[in-house]
Amino acid sequence: MAELFQWSDEFSVGVDEIDDQHVELVDLLNQLHAAVREHRGSAAVRGTLDELVDYTRTHFAAEEHMMRDSGYPDYAEHRVHHEALIDQVRALQQKLDSGEASITFELLHFLRVWLMRHIGESDKRFGAWYLEHGSQPEWVPEMRHAMTAHRRWWQFWR
Ligand SMILES: [Fe+2]
Repeated sequence: MAELFQWSDEFSVGVDEIDDQHVELVDLLNQLHAAVREHRGSAAVRGTLDELVDYTRTHFAAEEHMMRDSGYPDYAEHRVHHEALIDQVRALQQKLDSGEASITFELLHFLRVWLMRHIGESDKRFGAWYLEHGSQPEWVPEMRHAMTAHRRWWQFWR
């Protein structure tokens, strides 16, 4: 069956570090989709969701660091977008815990559309700006190395 989110180069923001993390995010979202579709049970689904949320937070933190360290003028506005999604997802996790909600295809669709739009608009704007004005913060190669070595690299921030 087709993946929920088929990655293609049209989603590239032109910055390898960010693209690599987006590919990982999309992969986790597709894993969540597969877990729901295959009725893997609430514990497995919840575990995959938690992994997706964990990675998303780390990715947002990485992106925000890059924005701050390079003096991106639209940093504050971009951060508001990130925080709004994290708030929504946190509320959802609470509803899942209390049994008020379950992960539906509607939710998966929402996450897919959010990600496509965010990458396609906000992240691409930053990517274009960064390529033109940004100087690479010195920790970026280290982050990239941690990602390549461990794949799940969010421990890097802890
Ligand atoms: Fe972003």
